[in-house]
Amino acid sequence: MPNVHVAHTQGWDTIPRLETQRLTLRPFTTDDISTLTRLANDRAVARTTTIPFPYTETHAREWIASHAPAAARREGLVWAITDRFTARLMGTIELRFRSPRHVGELGYWLGKAFWGRGYMTEAARAVLAYGFEQAGLYRIQAKHWHNNPASGRVMQKLGMTYEGTLRAAAARWGEYLDVLVYAILKPEWERAVKG
Ligand SMILES: CC(C)(COP(=O)(O)OP(=O)(O)OC[C@H]1O[C@@H](n2cnc3c(N)ncnc32)[C@H](O)[C@@H]1OP(=O)(O)O)[C@@H](O)C(=O)NCCC(=O)NCCS
Repeated sequence: MPNVHVAHTQGWDTIPRLETQRLTLRPFTTDDISTLTRLANDRAVARTTTIPFPYTETHAREWIASHAPAAARREGLVWAITDRFTARLMGTIELRFRSPRHVGELGYWLGKAFWGRGYMTEAARAVLAYGFEQAGLYRIQAKHWHNNPASGRVMQKLGMTYEGTLRAAAARWGEYLDVLVYAILKPEWERAVKG
């Protein structure tokens, strides 16, 4: 393995605005509470995530209020995924810092109406670029449960490598779930992006 390279870049204690071809990733505001609650309070979204269900406006308000302090403590960055042209809120993506200037972990979900159009892959590509280029990370990982192959497919499309399965490492709604681990390292990402 190469030596650890600790980059001295800015960019991991505030939530920046990121633009992609079809999306704007921005911080959540209290104006998002009702739409966020409607999107998250869906069994189809809750089934493969750890978000509370039923999901209430109180959950949304408390969660949004936690974002700026978490960023300031350098624990992680949470973005609202919105349509770049209509500004419609579609979901969320998070980059949680597992180890300063070293390991980040992606977490994400979209409202069901927005699945299957490549939005999450597009959003996550922007967050990978941010994590490697601005936040100084060397490894970005992501995990999904065995009942969620679509999320695994997103990880594969991001160029992540499957590293293994943590057997029965999660539990949801009375069922033990295997957790599949993926990751990409900065040089792999650079090769994939820059050729
Ligand atoms: C997982 C999720 C984020 C994917 O977002 P998305 O924008 O639909 O993802 P994309 O369109 O970028 O890619 C989805 C891929 O999964 C594939 N897919 C969808 N359902 C699948 C299934 N049942 N089995 C295998 N692949 C599947 C799609 O065909 C697509 O791959 P392709 O481009 O090669 O055709 C979205 O479904 C979601 O929010 N689910 C609920 C919450 C959740 O599970 N979050 C992740 C927790 S780890």
